[in-house]
Amino acid sequence: MTAPERPALDTYRDDPLLGDVVVSHDALEARVGELGEQIAADYRDRPPLMVGVLKGAFMFMADLSRAVGLPVECDFMAVSSYGSATKTSGVVRIVKDLDADLTGRHVLLVEDIVDSGLTLSYVRRNLVARNPASLEVCALLVKEGLQRADPDLRYVGFRIPPVFVVGYGLDVAERYRNLPEIRVYEGPVG
Ligand code: IMP
Ligand code: MG
Repeated sequence: MTAPERPALDTYRDDPLLGDVVVSHDALEARVGELGEQIAADYRDRPPLMVGVLKGAFMFMADLSRAVGLPVECDFMAVSSYGSATKTSGVVRIVKDLDADLTGRHVLLVEDIVDSGLTLSYVRRNLVARNPASLEVCALLVKEGLQRADPDLRYVGFRIPPVFVVGYGLDVAERYRNLPEIRVYEGPVG
């Protein structure tokens, strides 16, 4: 018997709370490769400090950092937003701060998903105040039409419909983060 190629996929195969595949594993792999090449070209002479926003961006960060063929540095911060499980209130708190000093650094902020854009806007303002030489954002997913203000994203993986999704780092109540593809979550949310 041969081992399944992606055990987590099998685990969730018959889960009744999971709906359509929004972004397949193959599409994720291909797009992360493209983003990596683009970032490598843009940052050739100034390798960035990649800043992943935990927990949702952990898987994207792991793959993207390897797809960027540059000697990048990686750091992480964790934020928690006050609000329900699925709606951000806009009031964000830093739960784990960065180790790195951003002064004079070329910072690439790596986000899992931009929904209202409130979390990103808070994190961006917070990081800009630390005087980086530059700050750009790479978001894996952007939900169509939900941002109040233009979130100014330098790199975007996929634009998706405004549905609640899980997988590839994204959770609902900490579940489904290890699902290797992005799928619609059809259970009760919020
Ligand atoms: P925003 O502040 O409304 O843009 O929400 C951003 C944060 O909410 C993301 O970093 C995620 O942690 C979470 N989030 C938003 N939409 C989803 C989703 O569809 N699935 C899982 N988490 C989500
Ligand atoms: Mg979450």
